[in-house]
Amino acid sequence: IGQEILLFDSVDSTNNYSKKIAKDAIHGTVVIGEEQTGGRGRLGRNWSSPKGEGIWMSIILKPSIPPTEGMKMTQIAAASVCKAIREAAGVEGYIKWPNDIVVGGKKVCGILTEMAGELNKIDYLIVGIGINVNNQSFPEEFKDIATSLTIEKGKKIDRKTLIACILKEFETLYQHYIDRRTLDETLEIIRLYSAVLGKTVRIIKGEQELKGRVLEINDEGLLKVQLEDGKEELLVSGEVSIRSE
Ligand code: BTN
Repeated sequence: IGQEILLFDSVDSTNNYSKKIAKDAIHGTVVIGEEQTGGRGRLGRNWSSPKGEGIWMSIILKPSIPPTEGMKMTQIAAASVCKAIREAAGVEGYIKWPNDIVVGGKKVCGILTEMAGELNKIDYLIVGIGINVNNQSFPEEFKDIATSLTIEKGKKIDRKTLIACILKEFETLYQHYIDRRTLDETLEIIRLYSAVLGKTVRIIKGEQELKGRVLEINDEGLLKVQLEDGKEELLVSGEVSIRSE
């Protein structure tokens, strides 16, 4: 991971750029933008990516795994970022299953994983990671839901050190998964630093909104919740959005 790193002063979206070059890129290529002019979030949302203030990067992966396993890369990324911001920035982040890192209930990192391929083979996967690092403030509309590492820590955080740490953690967890086909090491981190385990959450599933208590994150990385009517349901990442109550 990171044998090839492409750094841009400005790019529309590191995920878009990665898609463009993915076919010819080597596995583990990392694309970083100092700013993104068209950063994308999940569910078609925009992702604010001001110059020099955050880490806006994508990792291109070419694993030989079935497409159904692809979303596990999101969890590997979430675990890596959570561990790295604790180690390299000293910020106590928690993972809001499956793809956000929060501090004090506010979001510092979002992950957008995109996949291309056929029914039974992945051509490539792009794991897009956005981290608010040195933002001092946020526009009015994001004030209550977003924060940055600098705001939480009260000092500037070195982005290079953090990127290196994320890539190192990612490589370890990714390789473990590829070699053994188990998410155990990743899940250990996800469970230890979970922002949702044992909590009552709102679950947005398409048009539906449900309420339930999170019972466990199972060995496949699925979220097991108990709904208000007592029924248990397994949630697959990518299909749902979780909000705290
Ligand atoms: C979300 O929480 O909605 C996901 C946000 C993902 C943002 C990152 S920044 C780098 C990469 N390029 C993009 O356009 N999006 C992802």
